[in-house]
Amino acid sequence: MLNYLKNIKLRLQFTGWLQYILPVVVAIFFLGIAGLFGVLNFLNLSYVFLTISVLLFTITLFDITTIKFNIRPTESLPRRRDDMDAFDLMRTRRSCRSFQNRKLKPSDYSELLNVVREVNHQNNNKIGHNPIRFEYINAPLTVWPVVGAQEFFVAIAPKNYSRQSIVDVGRNLQKVVHHATKMGLGTCWIGPGADQSSIAQHLGDQFNSEKDHIVCVCAIGYKSWFTPFFLRIMASVVQHRRLPISSLFFTDYQFKKPLDEKVAPFDRFGRCYEVCQWAPSSFNSQTTRCVAVKEITNEEHRNGNTIPAKKSEIKLKRFDFYTSTKSRFYSPVALGIWFANWEIGCEALGIKGHFEILSENDRSVSTMGKVSELPIYDVSWVLDEAN
Ligand SMILES: Cc1cc2nc3c(=O)[nH]c(=O)nc-3n(C[C@H](O)[C@H](O)[C@H](O)COP(=O)(O)O)c2cc1C
Repeated sequence: MLNYLKNIKLRLQFTGWLQYILPVVVAIFFLGIAGLFGVLNFLNLSYVFLTISVLLFTITLFDITTIKFNIRPTESLPRRRDDMDAFDLMRTRRSCRSFQNRKLKPSDYSELLNVVREVNHQNNNKIGHNPIRFEYINAPLTVWPVVGAQEFFVAIAPKNYSRQSIVDVGRNLQKVVHHATKMGLGTCWIGPGADQSSIAQHLGDQFNSEKDHIVCVCAIGYKSWFTPFFLRIMASVVQHRRLPISSLFFTDYQFKKPLDEKVAPFDRFGRCYEVCQWAPSSFNSQTTRCVAVKEITNEEHRNGNTIPAKKSEIKLKRFDFYTSTKSRFYSPVALGIWFANWEIGCEALGIKGHFEILSENDRSVSTMGKVSELPIYDVSWVLDEAN
């Protein structure tokens, strides 16, 4: 029975009907309650539930007509966001789950493809050692729960698993997403909601099943106002929430002392913390954590005692990045997305640094207190000396 229901759900999901069926199920439930209250003679309550039920049916009918059957007016193209600064752009980005029924304009397509080509060719600027790439697909792939998407970038890493390559996918694709946001385009990362076999089919010769692994896709296009009711609710209730910065950034390896981003020397990084906090992650799971590591430059020694340095003498040395789950794909992708946002933010502030994978010894973890198995250390961002 359970398998039967699961199969029905999958069928509805990948034929693009589940988004509309769910509110209908709720509407039928409310209709039942209205009937029950009617029988029990609680007429006022019965009317309330009946009204909600009718509303839900009406909204769903409107959604099916305008979105599923595409009977709707042509929408205008969104405006570009060249006037926004890097931080506002990163904060503006939100997953777009409904796209207009049109392809990218040739000028938008070539601008974006140039960015992808640039990213594809930057194999020297990677954390891992393996090449990754993004392929373009021009076809309405079956994805969940996004509607109307017709164009995608597919992120491909080597079939032989390398965690760093998965981080690179996140980091590089997020840079494409950032540029797309600047162009006024809508984007949505899709991992669990993508059907890998249909993607491979669409890729044809661009995909080698012996060597390649599809990590995720990114839908790209013009955002539509017509969004299924279910997705609107999902976006505002589930997705537009984030953990506070104090639960993401720390100053100790036990992840107990939250970093205060308003206090020196951390305040120098301004909104970098915020744009990481609002970075996308699969199921909004927010699995990345960070530890800021300071260096005390001018410790004075008197009579054998160490006198703590003054605030001005405490320099930030690096940020160690961790993932809070053992997920092999979506956590490292989310980490890479943080990296992109972190780098874009630092670049905007003129702060220079580089990524480095450090050993426990290099990080002096043993002297500062060993962490448990989780979170897992991945990569550090080390401030360049000249800073
Ligand atoms: C690697 C990855 C995979 C994702 N997979 C899906 C997906 O399959 N379907 C979907 O609708 N959203 C997907 N998302 C989008 C997240 O649900 C979204 O980023 C998160 O809920 C936060 O919302 P926001 O992007 O609007 O800030 C994915 C995001 C990432 C980073």
